[in-house]
Amino acid sequence: MDRLHLHLALFIFLICNCSLIESQQPYIGKATNRCDSADNSTSVLGYSCNGVTQSCQAYLTFRSLPPFNSVSSISSLLAADPSHLSQLNKVSQDATFETNRTVLVPVNCSCSGSHYQFNTSYVIQHGNTYFSIANSTFQGLSTCQALQAQNANLSTGNLIVGTRIRVPLRCACPTKNQADDGVKYLLSYLVTWGQYVSAISSMFGVDTGKTLQANGLSEQNFNIYPFTTLLVPLQNSPSSSQTVEPPPPPSQQSPPTLIAPPPNSSSRKTWVYALVGTLGGLALIAVFGLLIFWFRFAKRKKKEKDSFIASESFESIEKPLEKRKKLEEEDMSQNFWDSLPSFAHSLQLYTYEEIKLATQNFSPSSLIGGSVYRGTIKGDYAAVKKMSGDVSEEINLLNKISHLNLIRLSGVCFSDGYWYLVYEYAANGALSDWLYENQGTQKKKCLDWKQRLQICLDVATGLNYLHSYTSPPHVHKNLKSSNVLLDADFRAKISNFGLARSADGQGGQFALTRHIIGTKGFMAPEYLENGLVSTMLDVYSFGVLLLEIFTGKEVAVLYEAVNVNLAEILSPVLDEKDGIENLSQIMDSSLGGNYPSELAILLIRLIASCLKKDPSARPTMHEIVQTLSTSVTATTSWHSKQSA
Ligand SMILES: *[C@@H]1O[C@H](CO)[C@@H](O)[C@H](O)[C@H]1NC(C)=O
Ligand SMILES: *[C@@H]1O[C@H](CO)[C@@H](O)[C@H](O)[C@H]1NC(C)=O
Ligand SMILES: *[C@@H]1O[C@H](CO)[C@@H](O)[C@H](O)[C@H]1NC(C)=O
Ligand SMILES: *[C@@H]1O[C@H](CO)[C@@H](O)[C@H](O)[C@H]1NC(C)=O
Ligand SMILES: *[C@@H]1O[C@H](CO)[C@@H](O)[C@H](O)[C@H]1NC(C)=O
Ligand SMILES: *[C@@H]1O[C@H](CO)[C@@H](O)[C@H](O)[C@H]1NC(C)=O
Repeated sequence: MDRLHLHLALFIFLICNCSLIESQQPYIGKATNRCDSADNSTSVLGYSCNGVTQSCQAYLTFRSLPPFNSVSSISSLLAADPSHLSQLNKVSQDATFETNRTVLVPVNCSCSGSHYQFNTSYVIQHGNTYFSIANSTFQGLSTCQALQAQNANLSTGNLIVGTRIRVPLRCACPTKNQADDGVKYLLSYLVTWGQYVSAISSMFGVDTGKTLQANGLSEQNFNIYPFTTLLVPLQNSPSSSQTVEPPPPPSQQSPPTLIAPPPNSSSRKTWVYALVGTLGGLALIAVFGLLIFWFRFAKRKKKEKDSFIASESFESIEKPLEKRKKLEEEDMSQNFWDSLPSFAHSLQLYTYEEIKLATQNFSPSSLIGGSVYRGTIKGDYAAVKKMSGDVSEEINLLNKISHLNLIRLSGVCFSDGYWYLVYEYAANGALSDWLYENQGTQKKKCLDWKQRLQICLDVATGLNYLHSYTSPPHVHKNLKSSNVLLDADFRAKISNFGLARSADGQGGQFALTRHIIGTKGFMAPEYLENGLVSTMLDVYSFGVLLLEIFTGKEVAVLYEAVNVNLAEILSPVLDEKDGIENLSQIMDSSLGGNYPSELAILLIRLIASCLKKDPSARPTMHEIVQTLSTSVTATTSWHSKQSA
């Protein structure tokens, strides 16, 4: 019953969530680059005056960069009070900051017209445009649109050197909702490359959900871009200790090991955001469906405590063969069928005759590989996999989930000691076949950069779903290029959940497994050494997968080059001064250099972080999805520039 109550509470929370999700200030997104359009649905002209007060103390961040790298130069550029600035950053008034240090800047934010702002001024230098002033000099603390709007008496195209212009800096005061929540200040945080909302929030000890909310971002739309401001709602004034130390690994705030979510209120919140993300537009309908399911499930569970699937029907499979044979075959599949929870996409139960017919009696021409056959069931292609042993985890898991990037199980058949699992058919087969020649198979045509990146994003999205949106969370444990299937449009689907596990009920964050299974090469060191299982296991394997995708080489071949630490492959690019020149050493030559180099470097950094030896230093799948979706967008614009 607890479970039902929890879900009911969630449901009610979801319905009322509309006001929570409602944006306090819309995030500016990519609008900063379009100087000719002042679309006021974003916050390009400034944050709107929707706060409790007309003026307030606010904070900005700025990265020290010569010539603006000292207390005095930054104070004068940003019209800040030097003594307050030096105190806040715990340095003396004549101090110079090391390059790239995040400097906190106190400002008196006030409402002018319909926007909050803090005024400073700037004298036009040779070669300046409004965009370069906003983006480069002020690093995104102002926008070209706001500069244009507030210096209307100057012509845009022809900025006269030596003219002083007014520069409105982006700041805001807390709204009523935020004030009620204890928020005293809003910090306009300048986003830089490779940052995530979660990491920025944890830097200041703020709940990620609250930061998302403050910027009108949601779990589905959380992309942030460098040289934009992100509002961080603070209950206390910020301190330099929060910005100077290297930001703690994002894992600290929301543990990557989602194996057993602690039942406290903040995790429940995260859960709600997760749920909101998953349900997306279908929210209400789906929630009703789920509710009905949970309701039934909860009831069933009570009644069937001792005859439930995992405890009986599958246990018998694990018993010795002789014993198993004795079981009436029909009885067994009937048991199995009864015990499955009824869910949105229910599993079809096939007879052996139907499977035989579908696969033309398991003819060699239907064989896809291993024990997988192509079949035609009711006019649709399907993949049929013959298995023995315990398939309960896979069936149970796949029956519960439904995601575009996870292969769908549509039906099952049990006959003569074997299971036949019927999956959706992925027309282009295994990803590995497209990357390199593999055990006698010919390499198929070469995938281009964009296809590869999309495949990465698809796999990351699927894993993120598995890690964060299934309850309990699951770890795939066997991610590799031969387990990633491509459909007719080259969209990726993760398959082979035979080793996937939840550590539900284990209590701890890590689960120690008795046997090391999975594919060496893709396996994280902590698993090989200590058998530790966490979602970070999949992140490591994902790093190896990316390595294969972008080098076009099989992991075994890559190992030959380095022996122990795979990440060493990346060092010519990451450790050298002119690493970008060495890109072609690493990237698949069949790409023909046809990719944006900066993006390639970004991805190589991402791979290096996934391959970190310390699991907690790896990014979460959620963060990876963010980085990759930004990269896909950037690739699209790169392509259109190439073809223009
Ligand atoms: C946004 O701009 C349109 C036209 O440019 C104007 O009519 C509207 O009032 C503006 N809205 C706000 C909130 O400033
Ligand atoms: C901000 O306001 C306070 C008091 O309202 C004032 O003492 C301070 O000088 C102001 N700072 C700046 C930089 O204008
Ligand atoms: C500057 O610092 C940020 C993090 O604060 C980091 O991501 C970035 O790589 C640094 N840039 C340089 C050039 O060191
Ligand atoms: C800032 O500049 C605007 C004009 O751009 C003006 O209306 C406003 O009063 C100024 N704010 C302050 C605090 O001086
Ligand atoms: C904004 O400025 C940064 C740093 O000066 C630069 O790397 C970036 O490319 C600029 N953005 C655009 C869109 O030009
Ligand atoms: C534009 O207006 C501002 C104040 O409104 C003034 O200080 C500045 O000199 C003007 N610039 C020109 C070129 O007229």
